[in-house]
Amino acid sequence: QEVYKKGLQYERSTLTFQADKWEELACQRLSAESKGYVYGSAGCRETTNKNRAAFKKWSIVPRRLVKTASFPDLSTEIFGQKQPYPIALAPVGVLRIFNSDGEVAAAKAAAQEGVPYILSTASSTSTEDVAAANGDGQRWYQLYWPSRDHDDITISLLQRAKKAGFTTLFVTLDTYILGWRPSDMDNGYNPFMRADQIGVALGFSDPLFRKNFKESHGIEIEENMGKAATEWMRMVFPGMSHGWEDIKFLQEHWDGPIVLKGIQTIQDAKKAVEAGVQGIVVSNHGGRQQDGGNSSLGVLPHIVDAVGDKLTIFFDSGITSGSDIAKALALGADCVLIGRPYVYGLALGGEGGVSHVLKSLMGDLELTLHLAGLPSASKKDLNRSVLVREED
Ligand code: FNR
Repeated sequence: QEVYKKGLQYERSTLTFQADKWEELACQRLSAESKGYVYGSAGCRETTNKNRAAFKKWSIVPRRLVKTASFPDLSTEIFGQKQPYPIALAPVGVLRIFNSDGEVAAAKAAAQEGVPYILSTASSTSTEDVAAANGDGQRWYQLYWPSRDHDDITISLLQRAKKAGFTTLFVTLDTYILGWRPSDMDNGYNPFMRADQIGVALGFSDPLFRKNFKESHGIEIEENMGKAATEWMRMVFPGMSHGWEDIKFLQEHWDGPIVLKGIQTIQDAKKAVEAGVQGIVVSNHGGRQQDGGNSSLGVLPHIVDAVGDKLTIFFDSGITSGSDIAKALALGADCVLIGRPYVYGLALGGEGGVSHVLKSLMGDLELTLHLAGLPSASKKDLNRSVLVREED
């Protein structure tokens, strides 16, 4: 309401958030490398483009003469925690290349707006510093899972996250190697190799990684950042080295909910249930990993039908507006993750930019539901009965 009223009264201090416009403005301002990293996708952008196109196949059908006393209720509960909105900030690595305050700015904005923050293993700020910035906010931790011969490092990362107040573990399963990303290759950009800028992204703040490095090479990490970066990268992007049976190890070392990120099939969703995890993220990493793939929204309803009553279903890939969020929720997601849009907010306006993006998305969602005659974002009101599928 704040953004809406100020906008209509022309009191706004910033351009109203519109995903395409903010993307264009951010891309103009960013270096070729940073732009390539956030805007860039795998291959020919086919998966990325399909992610966006999939939202247009569904339309929200409005109801009339629905009497409601107030604006729609967007609140929800995830893993027993009340949340004002059904959204969270997706894990995004190396945020300091977009704004010098990076993860600290994003984590502060998330806490300010009441939105959970998911910290990436590829963060350019230490776990502890992000926790301090996030304060009383809800925070979740995303793991790039080191190969099993580095279980000691995995345990160290998990213990630090737990100690710093991260309550839920998101394990990313679609990135055991970086995708074929032409813009990053053209720019010679590798997020993990930018050791000079992003030292701690490489786990350089992890005491055990530091100790192991010193023991095996006889030098501190800072004396050969390139070498440390290469070792870290090999460890956290270990190729296809984990199987379903390895999930048990994470369960033994994490006592909160575990969510598997990157699920795209019914089979894998069922395996997640069998493995005993609490949730999944239906995601294709925003089309940044495997190209020539399906849209993430396209598979969402099928996965919800198969396991929606057994797991908490998160969704991401392609969300840019309130109506996109409404459609993902109507198709059965419990909570959606916002990726690139908040990074553009960070690039253009730091903490305030991220806050503005979140306020705008929530305002847009609230009005979308209000105008569709829906009193809340809960499943009893917002479900498949409000959608129609457009003919191709
Ligand atoms: C990501 N994503 C990501 N995911 C993850 O699990 N760990 C990570 O470190 C990153 N890093 C990352 C960097 C950048 C620049 C982007 C854009 C994305 C993927 C992210 O969590 C999410 O799945 C997608 O961003 C969702 O798609 P949209 O919202 O960007 O279309």
